Amino acid sequence: MLDNRMTKEDIFENLKKFQDMDMSYESGRILSSMCTKPDPIAMEAYKMFIETNLGDPGLFPGTALMESEVIEMLGQLLHLENPSGHLVTGGTEANIMAMTVAKYLFQEKHEGTPEIILPVSAHFSFKKIISMLSLKPRYVPLDENYKMDVSKIEDLITENTMAIVAIAGTTELGLIDDIEKISEIAYSNNIYLHIDAAFGGFIIPFLENKNNLNLNFDFKCKGVSSMTIDPHKMGLAPVPAGGILFRHSEHLDKLAVKTPYLTRNKQTTIVGTRSGAATAATWTLLKYYGREGYQKIVKDAITLTQYTYDKLNNMDHINLICKPELNLISFNTDIKSVDVLKQELYECGWRVSVAQRPHVVRLVLMPHVKKEHIDMFLKDLKELLKE
Ligand SMILES: Cc1ncc(COP(=O)(O)O)c(C=O)c1O
Repeated sequence: MLDNRMTKEDIFENLKKFQDMDMSYESGRILSSMCTKPDPIAMEAYKMFIETNLGDPGLFPGTALMESEVIEMLGQLLHLENPSGHLVTGGTEANIMAMTVAKYLFQEKHEGTPEIILPVSAHFSFKKIISMLSLKPRYVPLDENYKMDVSKIEDLITENTMAIVAIAGTTELGLIDDIEKISEIAYSNNIYLHIDAAFGGFIIPFLENKNNLNLNFDFKCKGVSSMTIDPHKMGLAPVPAGGILFRHSEHLDKLAVKTPYLTRNKQTTIVGTRSGAATAATWTLLKYYGREGYQKIVKDAITLTQYTYDKLNNMDHINLICKPELNLISFNTDIKSVDVLKQELYECGWRVSVAQRPHVVRLVLMPHVKKEHIDMFLKDLKELLKE
């Protein structure tokens, strides 16, 4: 293969063929993803910084400054002055960093196997973390509203509790745990609390009237030690753009390793070489849209979610599972299994996913999904549910 070189023309013809095999967000048929088509202005910024390496920030001090400004802006969004953190590859890496810090802090004072208390609705990145960091999970069941059952948390606390994790915008149903109460429990028991707002972080602060949810979900809650917030989800940034914020700079410093051959003497990220392109894209988006711009993006997504919910509510054979808190809808049907329905929708060109808790079809109404796509989707769905 390597001995048969191609002309540039042939290469791009082939690239086009590969691209044509992919789904595009623009088609409006991806209803399963928490990512979306990056904003054009973000792509321009991305291209401009494509050669940068934030793993060696002394060579790219401008890009490094941009990263610190992004962290500062994310801090403002999440009510944290002087935040410490990084732009990373995504929610998984952000969660790994938070849990690694929590483990180091735990090990300074304890010898036992570290335990984390987390809801069964936690993203599967925590399965990886539990395995990689050799943690003992203590799972909290969900209450009748499919949220972490706060009343069960204290029973699970032991002398080996390393951290509590709660979710602001669950992957499967888009629901927000009662962070305020969970924070009180963590604070009064002096336990590290990590909030995974990978998805909700770019939505909840921009909700009109907080979507009638009366919630404090961020660093306003004094028990919160760290938060994940991903620009490459509702922030409209190109992949890979995750975010991790720590309340205390000493906590991020727990990750520091010496980097003798590079331009700065320490690194506090898990990965070494890392592109600054997504950082530039995120900086651009935050400056370009600002609070007002994101409020509009979120309002549009929530309006479409409500529209879809109301239409489904009036459709025969559909059971809606919960009132959406963010731009996710979940349902099952009384005439066919959700797995069969997912496959049939697939054959009609739609990509939906199936949640496990409970076993339901899950729709994510990201900004690439428009009303005309939903109308086509509902038409196909109705056809599939005819007896
Ligand atoms: C709540 C939550 N946390 C973490 C992640 C993992 O993020 P990533 O896939 O960017 O690593 C996701 C992904 O959907 C998520 O929904």
